[in-house]
Amino acid sequence: MKLDIRRAIVFCIVIGLSILSGCSKAQSMSSPKILIVYLSRTNNTKALAQIIQKNVGGTLVALELQTPYPENYQTTVNQVTNENATGFLPLLKTKIDSIEKYDVVFVGFPTWGMQLPPPMKSFLHQYNLSGKKVIPFNTNGGYGIGSTFQTVRELCPKSELLDGFTIKGGSERDGIFLAITGDKETETEKEVKKWLRKIKILQ
Ligand SMILES: Cc1cc2nc3c(=O)[nH]c(=O)nc-3n(C[C@H](O)[C@H](O)[C@H](O)COP(=O)(O)O)c2cc1C
Repeated sequence: MKLDIRRAIVFCIVIGLSILSGCSKAQSMSSPKILIVYLSRTNNTKALAQIIQKNVGGTLVALELQTPYPENYQTTVNQVTNENATGFLPLLKTKIDSIEKYDVVFVGFPTWGMQLPPPMKSFLHQYNLSGKKVIPFNTNGGYGIGSTFQTVRELCPKSELLDGFTIKGGSERDGIFLAITGDKETETEKEVKKWLRKIKILQ
C-alpha cells in the first residue's frame, strides 16, 4: 500500500515536470519576432539600438542610403532642410527581407531639424508595418524629439504605437560625436531597461 502511494507521488512529479517543460517551450515558441531598424550618422542612435538588442534580442538593421549624405555637417543640415521642405524621400540601399515575419519593430533615429530624418520617412513609406507593434527611440543634440514621434504615428496609422524612448546623444555642430559611451552608456542601459519594462517588452 505504502509503495503504491510512493509510486503515485513519483508519477505526479514526473507528469508535473513534463507539463512545466512543455509550457516553457510553448512560451519561447510564442515569443515575438523583433526587428530593430535605426538610422545613425555619428553612432549615438546605433549605441542605443545595440543596447536594446542586447536586452530583447532580434535583428538589428542600419538604414543606409543609395546616395549617402555629405561628410560636412553644415552641407548635410542644408540638404536635410530642403528635403524636409519638399517632402523628398531618399532611396534606401538597405533592403529588409520579409518584413511580414516580424511582430515588433523598433525604429530608431536622431532628431534632424526638429523632424524625423528623411531616410526614416522613406523606410516608413516603403514598408508596411500594419498590425505590428511599433516602438520609436531617439537621440538628439539636446532639443528633444521635435515632431519625430508624431510623424512615426502618422506614417504607421494601422500599427500599435508604444511609448518611445529619447535621450540626449551627441552634438556634431559642437564637435561632440559619440556621447553614449563609457559611464553614459551604462546609465543609458539602466534607463532603457526601465522603459522596456514599462512598455512590457521586458519582464
Ligand atoms: C543634419 C542634422 C540635424 C540635426 N538637427 C538637430 C535638431 O534639430 N535638434 C537636436 O536636438 N539635435 C539635432 N542634431 C543632433 C543629433 O540629433 C544628435 O547629435 C544625435 O545624437 C545624433 O545621432 P547619431 O549619432 O545616431 O547620428 C542634428 C544633427 C544633424 C546631423
